[in-house]
Amino acid sequence: MTDIKELLLSRIRDVADYPEPGVMFKDITPLLADPAAFTALTDALAEIAANTGATKIVGLEARGFILGAPVAVRAGLGFIPVRKAGKLPGATLSQAYDLEYGSAEIEVHAEDLAAGDRVLVIDDVLATGGTAEASIQLIRRAGADVAGLAVLMELGFLGGRARLEPSLAGAPLEALLVI
Ligand code: PRP
Ligand code: MG
Repeated sequence: MTDIKELLLSRIRDVADYPEPGVMFKDITPLLADPAAFTALTDALAEIAANTGATKIVGLEARGFILGAPVAVRAGLGFIPVRKAGKLPGATLSQAYDLEYGSAEIEVHAEDLAAGDRVLVIDDVLATGGTAEASIQLIRRAGADVAGLAVLMELGFLGGRARLEPSLAGAPLEALLVI
């Protein structure tokens, strides 16, 4: 494992049985509190933004905001928030998606994305891929292209990568850590 991967992994805390029994929660707050680790993470994601030719960064509420906003600043790109439903004041595009129990909805300001944009989506974790898939659908419905999806952690055993293959349509999925 490379130095940066070891550094990032060492700053992610496993919390057993959270938020419910049987789930191992990956807590990134120790990483965020360590300026060397947070800077290394931001730089690595900004490099992916450059390599994919992204022209905009989309961050997925909430933890994708924390990671995506500094990447946008570092890469010199605009930051577009994809929010949980009901939080954006302007005209929005909405996308519903299924959760293990029930469903959820995310939204983006329609005016923030347009044809000609190449969007890199950033989030902390890829689990089942439901959230990322809905965000990709939103971006495409806005007429923009998906430059790729970049996450700190991919939970490989949940199969999100395979689920996203059709919607990514050849765009890269970059995970700094695969767990
Ligand atoms: C978590 C995580 C990812 C998503 C991954 O978000 O931050 O966004 O789940 O799961 P999936 O691949 O199965 O969709 P969540 O909405 O639970 O919490 P947050 O608001 O703290 O980001
Ligand atoms: Mg999230």
